[in-house]
Amino acid sequence: MAKYSKIISCGSYLPEKVINNSDLPAILETSDEWIRARTGITQRHIAADGELTSDLAAKAAKIALEKAGLAAVDLIIVATTTPDTTFPATAVSVQKKLGMHSGFAFDIQAVCSGFVYAMNMADIYIKSGQAKTALVIGAETITRILDWADRGTCVLFGDGAGAVILGESDEPGILSAKLHSDGQFQQELYVDGGVSINQQAGLLRMNGKEVFRHAVEKMGNVVLEALEDADYGIEDVKWLIPHQANQRIMDAIAKRFKIDSDKVLSAVAKHANTSAASIPLAICEHEAKLKSGDLVALTALGAGFTWGSIILKW
Ligand code: ACO
Repeated sequence: MAKYSKIISCGSYLPEKVINNSDLPAILETSDEWIRARTGITQRHIAADGELTSDLAAKAAKIALEKAGLAAVDLIIVATTTPDTTFPATAVSVQKKLGMHSGFAFDIQAVCSGFVYAMNMADIYIKSGQAKTALVIGAETITRILDWADRGTCVLFGDGAGAVILGESDEPGILSAKLHSDGQFQQELYVDGGVSINQQAGLLRMNGKEVFRHAVEKMGNVVLEALEDADYGIEDVKWLIPHQANQRIMDAIAKRFKIDSDKVLSAVAKHANTSAASIPLAICEHEAKLKSGDLVALTALGAGFTWGSIILKW
């Protein structure tokens, strides 16, 4: 059985259509200055009509597969909160779009923490010997569940997909993972619809100030927990890759840990918050900086709340 699972490649896809902050005052009472100052976001990508979460995911996955020199993998996990359909899983649509007929594929729903949850699952499958290779994808068409009349939420999000391939390895890769959830916070961030409730997809609702506070505290604390399990300290982290919700959240975490802001990898300015896709998109955006052996910490918080961290060697 494999001692470790390790990232062997990554790929990303962003829809062609871009909406800049300066396009938004035409439909909302907002401004480029407000959005930039409060969030660091300057633009977001929006999926085209008929472009599905599985399309974005398959495009990102194809790039990762090509880079790894693989035609197929044993396992596909898609982390998404905006699946193509209620069932089957978006992951099996991705499997079909990639022309794969073997292995197994499923979705995971942990909202903005989905990629961290999915990485942990794939790591467990690889270490247990049930898979030798895994495609772990974060993919969202989250702009489809935004209320475009609510300026407190709609300016924050964008669509996209990022994928990594994990393979078995004798060299250190994923070193530790720590996951949490606490359903008492559901009302801070949720969608006001669902199959069981009203048979509608619903729209995103958020108490921004509370989410901000919890994100800074919980994303920071869980990194320390995961580092402790891996026998490292915060000073050993070469790159921190947080969920890309808001530049101010990332800056607050960097300040708390007194880490140089250059070590906190960000892509929020160009992508906005792409929910489960945000961490793999940030990984791809900064791939050239990541060198073999670098200690990397991933951390995320999403609706639920769910939160978690992965510590890995690149
Ligand atoms: N443009 C202009 N003004 C706005 C906008 C906008 N887009 N949105 C809100 N405002 C106004 C408000 O109406 C309010 O006006 P008022 O004082 O007249 O009532 C004023 O700006 C201040 O609003 P606040 O909500 O207090 O602004 P705040 O500084 O808290 O920033 C924000 C809001 C950006 C949502 C912030 O709370 C935040 O980033 N929270 C984190 C939420 C997040 O990132 N969620 C993503 C999902 S969860 C996750 O991914 C971790």
